[in-house]
Amino acid sequence: MSIDLKGRDFLTLKDFTAEEILYLLDLAASLKEKKKLGIPVDIHRGKNIALIFEKTSTRTRCAFEVAAHDLGICTTYLAEGSQIGKKESIADTARVLGRMFDGIEYRGYGQEMVEALAKYTEVPVWNGLTNEYHPTQMLADMLTIREHLGKLKGLKLVYFGDARYNIGNSLSIVCSKLGLNLVLCSPKKYAPNAALIEECKVWQKESGGTITLTEDVKAAAKNADIIYTDVWVSMGEPDEVWAERIADLKPYQVNADVMKLAKPEAIFMHDLPSFHNLETKIGQEIGEKFGLAAMEVTDDVFESKQSVVFDEAENRMHTIKAVLAATLGNNF
Ligand code: CP
Ligand code: NVA
Repeated sequence: MSIDLKGRDFLTLKDFTAEEILYLLDLAASLKEKKKLGIPVDIHRGKNIALIFEKTSTRTRCAFEVAAHDLGICTTYLAEGSQIGKKESIADTARVLGRMFDGIEYRGYGQEMVEALAKYTEVPVWNGLTNEYHPTQMLADMLTIREHLGKLKGLKLVYFGDARYNIGNSLSIVCSKLGLNLVLCSPKKYAPNAALIEECKVWQKESGGTITLTEDVKAAAKNADIIYTDVWVSMGEPDEVWAERIADLKPYQVNADVMKLAKPEAIFMHDLPSFHNLETKIGQEIGEKFGLAAMEVTDDVFESKQSVVFDEAENRMHTIKAVLAATLGNNF
């Protein structure tokens, strides 16, 4: 059966079948190969897309811009200075942008914002991260795992940290769809909501994947194929949460002792940015205040041979290119 994603929104991977997700991974791999060989793929020449960023970004913004340019698409970046959410509702914004652009990317706060954009416009809307989901990150992560470990089904992926936010939620969905065994290791109050875990069970019946929730770091890390973590405090959360978050999540830091429990060939992943050292201004302030040298991952693990974080970052571009290419309507 051929897969046609023309016109589809990309809001959460809940809306995509395993076959569709695997199709996007294959398309990304082929676009990556073409890029390395210098083969042009500017199949969407003459199209225009809007990139709305209500939160900061390095990878996602650059990935959308470079991917779009490679496909022949012009981009318009909207952040500070636009009327969105201030003088103009998301519904009005959607109807305006839909008249001018062939697609709209949105990074912001509540998932309801990106859903509203999609509701009020005919053109594809792509989620560049909300508090709840980060679906383009998941495509890059799955492509990276497949490149390094040769498969997806049956692998043990262990996530340490705040599992009830965009990364924990999105890993729950993609692992359940593609048949990975996901272990979410965090204090109980940071587990994804029960309704999402229930929803995932439906996809697990087809894929054979599992989700295990645990607070036991050693049992979680044992024989892992992939160790994954994310920042302890996400964009948009208030500064006041730092003290509680550090106290709660410090025992879940990924360090050499944790990596030793995983398989020798295990890989370390992080969506980035990361506080693996505290060289940035925010890092230094937090480090000094709380007496830390690193947060969610230690520097030795981040810089180790097992770390694939920069492959993962590069793959953001190839996978986002696949999403743009497919939803704007080209079958390769
Ligand atoms: N991983 C990720 O989304 O990075 P940015 O916040 O830099 O876009
Ligand atoms: N959970 C993080 C992911 C960053 C890519 C955040 O929302 O800030």
